[in-house]
Amino acid sequence: MDKQQYRILPPSTMLNPTPVVLVSCAEKEHPENKNMITLAWAGTVNSEPPMVSVSVRKERYSHGLILGSGEFVVNLADEKMARGVDFCGVKSGRDTDKARETGFEYMAADGLMTAPAVKGAPVSLCCKVRHVLELGSHDMFIGEVVSVMVRGDLLDEKGSMHLEKAGLIAYSHGLYQKLGDVLGFFGWSVAREDVFRRRMSTYR
Ligand SMILES: Cc1cc2nc3c(=O)[nH]c(=O)nc-3n(C[C@H](O)[C@H](O)[C@H](O)COP(=O)(O)O)c2cc1C
Repeated sequence: MDKQQYRILPPSTMLNPTPVVLVSCAEKEHPENKNMITLAWAGTVNSEPPMVSVSVRKERYSHGLILGSGEFVVNLADEKMARGVDFCGVKSGRDTDKARETGFEYMAADGLMTAPAVKGAPVSLCCKVRHVLELGSHDMFIGEVVSVMVRGDLLDEKGSMHLEKAGLIAYSHGLYQKLGDVLGFFGWSVAREDVFRRRMSTYR
């Protein structure tokens, strides 16, 4: 087949890459029952108030925990976490203590009563569920971000965040990949040459 030609594939969710995140949650009545689930169907959906979405199948153990407590934490994942992230996406908290098996530790999530955050994650978005959309295979939980916890080493002395140093990972068509070189910054296509060079020198 001519490589310049396009082939039509059956409709699918071929939006790649996506973030791959570790979502932590807990049982409302027994908050000591904590769990982590790996999700690739997560997104940013609103800025004022800040809101993110996570899409979770009803049969996941985490689904009931998030629905029951009305809380979840989206923990961004870095390269060091990648193996544990995969584990949390292939084992269920119904029969596995994922913290014990992966070595991930929970910590209190700022602004939440029940759901914990994951210690060591570069950034944790602490969310309260505002909407639940039943879409078909997945229920989409739309959460308002009530607090953002950032690992101290990602902040400079002025308090600016350097997420490019976090070694974040993404998920693309079945593969975990790490983020690489900085190509530009917001508005670089129209920035003056000297501004572009100065800014970019800080990322190399
Ligand atoms: C890379 C990856 C991405 C995943 N994304 C999702 C997702 O977006 N939604 C979902 O319901 N399950 C997703 N899963 C599957 C769940 O993480 C998996 O079924 C997990 O074992 C459920 O855990 P739980 O039963 O403890 O909640 C994903 C798994 C992997 C490995």
